[in-house]
Amino acid sequence: MKLFVALLAVGLPALVAAHSWIVCTDYLENNGWYWDQAKCRGWPRAATFYNLRFGTFGTHNNYTWRLDNHPEERALCKVSRNDDRRYSEETPMAAYYLGQEVVLTHPANNHVAESKCRGRTAMDWENLMFVVDGDEDPCCIDSTKLIQIMDMGASPYGPNIDLVITTTYPKPGFQNAPKFCEDEANAMGTYNFTIPMDMKPGRHTFVWKWIRSPRVSPFTTCWEADVFATKAERDAHYAATGQTTVDLWDFYQINTIVDGEIMDPLDPVDQIISG
Ligand SMILES: *[C@@H]1O[C@H](CO)[C@@H](O)[C@H](O)[C@H]1NC(C)=O
Ligand SMILES: *[C@@H]1O[C@H](CO)[C@@H](O)[C@H](O)[C@H]1NC(C)=O
Repeated sequence: MKLFVALLAVGLPALVAAHSWIVCTDYLENNGWYWDQAKCRGWPRAATFYNLRFGTFGTHNNYTWRLDNHPEERALCKVSRNDDRRYSEETPMAAYYLGQEVVLTHPANNHVAESKCRGRTAMDWENLMFVVDGDEDPCCIDSTKLIQIMDMGASPYGPNIDLVITTTYPKPGFQNAPKFCEDEANAMGTYNFTIPMDMKPGRHTFVWKWIRSPRVSPFTTCWEADVFATKAERDAHYAATGQTTVDLWDFYQINTIVDGEIMDPLDPVDQIISG
């Protein structure tokens, strides 16, 4: 009993604090169920250091060395900007084009309202995307250098919401993790955001910000991407670096799901990437 109480005391602060970070900055499958590193074309800063590419999704590295960042306690970007050193052949920088829909992935880290395995009360407050004005890392979350380019919504939660809503995907915001109940800590969630048509082509820094609850300070992840005016230019860039040039596909558009099972499993990545 004593041991049980001690474990609870250690475990609770971690749960209350919450954690998450962006793993992939250009993922090929929107609203997908399971992570596949072969579907990732672009990575955040220092992805190799944080071991984001290989291994089990969400368990990347250990608690001391994870990409998690609370900008109210430290700098806005956990790792400072250094384009030569923060990317590698294994974890390259993303390339986008104006008007592109971009898919991001992140671990759920227990924060999903899902009546099949949890209560309905896991909060989701704000999920925003910013682009940085200029080449310097902004100091902090309130910096005037952060230009908001997308509000990715918030997931439904609350003690009185219909149970069916909690088990229905896709969801807006953070909790878009359809396989949450299979691994509450490490299940993959995805977002999408759009590159504004009026963004100036060139290299930019992008910042993701998640607020789980107004009582918990936000989380951020920073990365660079080369933004091209057209898909043709973006494709030429990816082709030159040995990456696929396909656009994202949507999991629910390419699969027929009956009673939670995929009826006609067909994975375009197998055809596109290997063929
Ligand atoms: C955590 O990971 C880092 C980087 O891989 C490693 O240097 C460090 O020794 C690890 N710490 C523990 C406690 O495992
Ligand atoms: C992209 O995300 C938004 C929420 O931010 C959602 O409303 C929209 O349906 C998503 N698009 C697709 C194709 O899933």
